[in-house]
Amino acid sequence: MKQVFDLVIFGGTGDLSMRKLLPAMYRAYHQGHCSEDSRILVCCRKPSDFEVLPERIEEALKTFLDAEEFDSSRCNAFMSIVEPVMLDLTNLEQGWTQFSDLFEGREEYIRLFYLAVMPSIYGACCENLSTKNLITPNSRIVVEKPLGYDLDSAEKINETMARYFQEEQIYRIDHYLGKETVQNLLALRFGNFLFENIWDSKAIEHIQISISEQVGLEGRAGFYDEAGAMRDMVQNHLLQLLCLVAMESPNKLRAEDVRVEKIKVLRALKPILPEDMESSVVRGQYVSGQIDGEKVPGYLDELESYQSNTETYVAIKTFIENWRWAGVPFYLRTGKRLKKRSAEIIVQFKNVTHNVYGSKEKNLEPNRLIIQLQPEEKIQLVLMAKAIGEHGEKKSENEDLSSSLESKENLKPITLNLDFSQESIPFKSSAYQRLLIDAIHGNSTLFIHRDEVRAAWKWVDPIIESWKSSAVPPEFYSAGSWGPTKANELFEKREQSWINIA
Ligand code: BG6
Repeated sequence: MKQVFDLVIFGGTGDLSMRKLLPAMYRAYHQGHCSEDSRILVCCRKPSDFEVLPERIEEALKTFLDAEEFDSSRCNAFMSIVEPVMLDLTNLEQGWTQFSDLFEGREEYIRLFYLAVMPSIYGACCENLSTKNLITPNSRIVVEKPLGYDLDSAEKINETMARYFQEEQIYRIDHYLGKETVQNLLALRFGNFLFENIWDSKAIEHIQISISEQVGLEGRAGFYDEAGAMRDMVQNHLLQLLCLVAMESPNKLRAEDVRVEKIKVLRALKPILPEDMESSVVRGQYVSGQIDGEKVPGYLDELESYQSNTETYVAIKTFIENWRWAGVPFYLRTGKRLKKRSAEIIVQFKNVTHNVYGSKEKNLEPNRLIIQLQPEEKIQLVLMAKAIGEHGEKKSENEDLSSSLESKENLKPITLNLDFSQESIPFKSSAYQRLLIDAIHGNSTLFIHRDEVRAAWKWVDPIIESWKSSAVPPEFYSAGSWGPTKANELFEKREQSWINIA
């Protein structure tokens, strides 16, 4: 059923709004998710922005949608539900009366207030919404990760929001949870009998979760140098993926059931103490190099600074201290300016218990489940199979078949492929689209609860503290590489290393 909604984007002229939110809503509109009475109110503070807002939105849609998705008539249709609004978020005298008039007679509709602004003004914004009686039982507030800078600041933000909104009305976005393959990970784990019995320390050797990016600072130097990869990516995206891979089956896929299971994983993460840092964490920073044949500057040059220890790369080995995962290393890594853009979860199974193929010195390749989130969304299972056409046939009636199979050379890894891009999808979807529509429908399963934020910071904060208190600089890596080579030393076994999906 289509809900009538008012989506209000505070910070409507910002990067997030233009790059992600408006294109996502354009797609949602053209896929029939928005009733004609719904509205998207795009807020801006400056009169000069207000005057040109429709043109800017059109330009952004043209830029950030795929060419085949955009045309002028489609754009005009979408713009019929978009309304530019002038509003100073922190100043109740500036535009708030006209703003609240916009909601008259629409009290029963869904209200989604998207705070695409600095967390420092969340408080003033919520207070003004409350003073103007704009927070109804049907209202929801949506905020972005990373929530806060550490546990204390995250708690303060959460407390501020909790003064005006119930926890059920607060939707904390982590766009990785909206990615299609992430849903498929859940389907794979909880919709199939096949994997459940081998999803534990008895069968799994280790798990790698990687998010590699080619981009650098993208004009966000101020934010990024304060945050670093740990706060920007590990505290949220990587830990959320880890939760979905490692959690127990929830009773139902309801938000509260999933949340309980995710929190158990976060709380079971083995703390990384200062004395574990050397063997468990590698932090890196890129220097200049070449990506796809083009020279790119180093981090400090992009930052226009001489000195910064901010990490643009992190690799971590961690363990989940519970019955299912005892002793299984989870390797997490993320970095900017790496060789390729790619994000994947690799589940590496144990070797066969006895190698009937007889090669003593070499093991058979282990089975791997590869869940790739980007650039392509696909799931692959790597198995050993007999190389077609090689040996295996009996040359004579008397020959024992096992002797011709005894060489490992007869076997090779093959890949079973489930490639979603081959399914015909008439219109593209995006993580933000999925999450915005979920928020409109009041489905918070793919959003983050306050307790998850708290548990994630509790694990992350000591690592950042250890960096601060030691004078050890980051490991440098060339842009266009796969990060510091030291990251391979995290592996428990010498023959193992990061698997780069190129
Ligand atoms: C954002 C980070 O949350 O995720 C960015 O703030 C990062 O630094 C981005 O580039 C990556 O998202 P995606 O979907 O492009 O992998």
